[in-house]
Amino acid sequence: MKNHDDNKKTPVSFRFRENRNRCDVKIPISVFILHFVSWKERVIFMSFTNKTAIATGAASGMGLEFSRSFSELGGNIVMCDVNEKALKAYVDEINSKGKGKALGVVCDVRDYLQVENACKSAFDTFGSIDIVCNFAGGTAVRIFNSYDKYDEFPDVPIEVYDWGMDVNLKGQFYFCHVALRYMREQKSGLIVNIGSITGMEGDGYGIDYPTSKAGVMFGLTKSVAQFGSKYGIRCVCVSPGPVLTREAMSNMKTLLGRAAEPNEIIDLILFIASEKGRFINGENIMIDGGRNAMQRQ
Ligand SMILES: NC(=O)c1ccc[n+]([C@@H]2O[C@H](COP(=O)([O-])OP(=O)(O)OC[C@H]3O[C@@H](n4cnc5c(N)ncnc54)[C@H](O)[C@@H]3O)[C@@H](O)[C@H]2O)c1
Repeated sequence: MKNHDDNKKTPVSFRFRENRNRCDVKIPISVFILHFVSWKERVIFMSFTNKTAIATGAASGMGLEFSRSFSELGGNIVMCDVNEKALKAYVDEINSKGKGKALGVVCDVRDYLQVENACKSAFDTFGSIDIVCNFAGGTAVRIFNSYDKYDEFPDVPIEVYDWGMDVNLKGQFYFCHVALRYMREQKSGLIVNIGSITGMEGDGYGIDYPTSKAGVMFGLTKSVAQFGSKYGIRCVCVSPGPVLTREAMSNMKTLLGRAAEPNEIIDLILFIASEKGRFINGENIMIDGGRNAMQRQ
């Protein structure tokens, strides 16, 4: 007769044959459970309670998506943008949900004094600046409708390119410069710069965009990581391919045959900002559905 205790002693296991010439390998069920728990922890138990993040460009697109997600995970979010009306509406929306708190600060990232004011407001309100995400940016020739007005790069007024260089490069540089003062004092912090696949590919018309994004992806991110290391501060650049914050982005090809949903980019940033991402530093991470791996013509 079978002893019931034998059943208890025998570890439950999944069995699979690695190949025909090798013996069977038993994997205890505990390993599967551990993997399951670690997956659950990643998805469900990521928490930013008592953490404060600043997001620039927070009244639209990925900056807004990040702000919502970060506060849903318990963090306080300081939302910076030039679009005061939209900013106020989204700050109210996040605060009405009752998880992490949101503070709106009207801030043009091209203006150093306004950047100083945004960081001071964040620190005065919440007591720390743990994460800065530099989302504010865009393609100047699209925003100024240059395609319809000017033939080629040298024909486009320099003011258009000035806007692109200032928002995409100087704005991120300014926020690094100011936020690092607070982070140095705290001896901790994370800056997430936002690059672009175009920083890898170039663009023969909107030349400010790849120029400024490449500066952020490599020079700024590596340099800030070098400065920050002795203070426990990390700096990472996340560089998306096409993202569906605008429908037109679905026309850009990727190996996966589609553009990203904004939350797919934000999930990566949240992972980098979480405990699980603590060893990621000084790196530019492409998240582009394999576009950068596509054969160039
Ligand atoms: N959408 C894409 O396909 C894509 C791809 C690669 C990289 N990116 C980069 O990701 C970032 C976010 O893109 P998105 O599509 O979510 O953008 P978006 O256009 O939806 O939002 C940009 C936000 O920045 C704000 N902004 C503009 N100028 C500003 C200034 N001077 N100061 C403060 N705020 C300002 C705008 O008001 C807007 O709310 C940008 O840096 C962009 O270059 C986007």
